[in-house]
Amino acid sequence: MSAETPVCQLLERQAFDYRGWLWVAPPQDAWLEAGQGRLLSADAALCAAWQAKGVPRASPFEALDAAPPGAVLFWPKSHAQGEWWLLWLCAHLPPGTPLQLVGENQGGIKRVLKVLAALGLGCRKLDTARRCGLYATRLDRVGIDPDAAWTRFEAEGMTLVSHPGVFGHGKLDDGTRLLLGELPGTLEGRADKGRGDILDMGCGDGILAAWLARRGARVTAVDVNGFAVEATRRTLAANGLAGEALASDVYSALGDRTFDAIVSNPPFHHERAIDYGPAGRLIREAPAHLKPGGCLLLVANAFLPYPDLLEAAFGGFEILADDRRFRVYAATRDGRS
Ligand SMILES: C[S@@+](CC[C@H](N)C(=O)[O-])C[C@H]1O[C@@H](n2cnc3c(N)ncnc32)[C@H](O)[C@@H]1O
Repeated sequence: MSAETPVCQLLERQAFDYRGWLWVAPPQDAWLEAGQGRLLSADAALCAAWQAKGVPRASPFEALDAAPPGAVLFWPKSHAQGEWWLLWLCAHLPPGTPLQLVGENQGGIKRVLKVLAALGLGCRKLDTARRCGLYATRLDRVGIDPDAAWTRFEAEGMTLVSHPGVFGHGKLDDGTRLLLGELPGTLEGRADKGRGDILDMGCGDGILAAWLARRGARVTAVDVNGFAVEATRRTLAANGLAGEALASDVYSALGDRTFDAIVSNPPFHHERAIDYGPAGRLIREAPAHLKPGGCLLLVANAFLPYPDLLEAAFGGFEILADDRRFRVYAATRDGRS
């Protein structure tokens, strides 16, 4: 099994024994899954893929069952999140554990030199190829609590809790604001006046879930990103609101549960690429997760090809708002829009 991604191709050519090592926040790559390392990731889709193959996996929100002989940190797009992983590894793995850091030049891997120096950790360049770099250090206690990365901000009269790598980190998205403006009028006539079972799909920091819970909805919030799920739990708690937040790749964790309404500002990016996959599944499978008469409410950039998907899934839809940049769509199960 050959490595598929440039970062894994760089690791593959190391002739290094990675048995038992932790792959921290890696991309999807069959070479990793076929090897003898363990996964540490907050990505629910990746964790599900590893679990399906029976390969061990762990989450940064649970204690590790055993210390690994070493770890490879795949430096993420968000530097603040990379720094968080580094602090987490320093706090949770024994001092002296070997750590390798790998990433694409375009993703700013060279910045790890400064980050490691600021923490008083040494750094050795191991290799560069495929427009990627590989560096080595050893972990140590650095006296900084990774939990300090959780931040709070105020929006819509609520406290929102966020974390590096969670969508819209620290500010309310303009599309989400447009959707919130449409919710009171739209929910008044539906979803038990907004107090029914409502699903927030792709919850991010939990702004929609908290807004709905404050209005009396029974909220379930899901996100593929474990940091977003944890942020939503903290947002609900910070506002004294009830609700359930689950890690889920679109509907994967929901079985055949149905809702009075599904609200979403759906994703259309994965890392740096445009990816309509999750939004497509969200729309196509929405009727199966709505009660009869239940509605899907979406906000999206006006250029995205959702009208065709909504037409195919629901047989019709309405545009509730359009500010030229974003549109709010509503579609109702059973063809009533
Ligand atoms: C545009 S953001 C919206 C966040 C938040 N609801 C808001 O309005 O600010 C889209 C969210 O979808 C999540 N997401 C991406 N892929 C997903 C998937 N396959 N399943 C569930 N959520 C996903 C992202 O992690 C992100 O939090």
